Amino acid sequence: MEPSKITVPHVVKMKAEGQKIVALTAYDYSMAALLDEAGVDLILVGDSGAMVFAGHDTTLPLTVDEAVYHCKAVRRGVKRALLVGDMPFLSYQVSPEEALTNAGRFFKEAGVDAVKIEGGSPVCATVKRMVEAGMPVMGHLGLTPQSIRRLGGYSVQARSEENARQLAHDAAALEEAGAFSLVLEKIPSPLGEKVSRSLRIPTIGIGAGPHCDGQILVSYDMLGLFERFHPRFVRRYAELAVTVKEACAAYARDVREGGFPSDKESF
Ligand code: KIV
Repeated sequence: MEPSKITVPHVVKMKAEGQKIVALTAYDYSMAALLDEAGVDLILVGDSGAMVFAGHDTTLPLTVDEAVYHCKAVRRGVKRALLVGDMPFLSYQVSPEEALTNAGRFFKEAGVDAVKIEGGSPVCATVKRMVEAGMPVMGHLGLTPQSIRRLGGYSVQARSEENARQLAHDAAALEEAGAFSLVLEKIPSPLGEKVSRSLRIPTIGIGAGPHCDGQILVSYDMLGLFERFHPRFVRRYAELAVTVKEACAAYARDVREGGFPSDKESF
């Protein structure tokens, strides 16, 4: 029997019912199918793919064409989870009209269930326009990697009282604008708790403590596939880079020594 599809209202209801939302990122069909079959509730085609998939130093170079391509691949692997496409840097900041046109590509060409954009009050008019057009939007506050040049690094955000107040204000404004959920990235745990308690929509934390309504990690990080850095908030549930390298070394040895293919693997 087909698993029942998770929808935007379902995700919002999960908060009301006290059910934690399990979210991970994916960038390709095969990984997406595995995450979906494992029962992940929400799959984000994150712009983190610019780094862990494409090898860039930041998320900034990702284009709308590339993001839509990855969403299409992931869509084919996902049957149950809510599929969210991350809108790239400068695909929604220039004007609400341009944002609407670009967001439309994610829905029309890739069949996503929702899109995600970064930022607080300055993007609220855009969120409102997209929601009015029928496109569910997930917000993203705290460490917003598309602003890395302004932030100057990946440090914990909203530590000062003033910045914490601003973040809480932005979270309320995004809810008011119609966002259906909110990623909170790399902020102090008490602030994650306070914002989560104050909103009706679910918060999805990444380095925002245990009191968020759900948790998200970059799949390549939690599976130990991406070895370039290891943020403190990532728990590695596997060491796949080690497994891949060992498997490739064993294959290389077999090929070089004539052990592969065997008679059984030949025609
Ligand atoms: O791009 C991404 O993977 C993200 C998550 C870390 C939330 O935005």
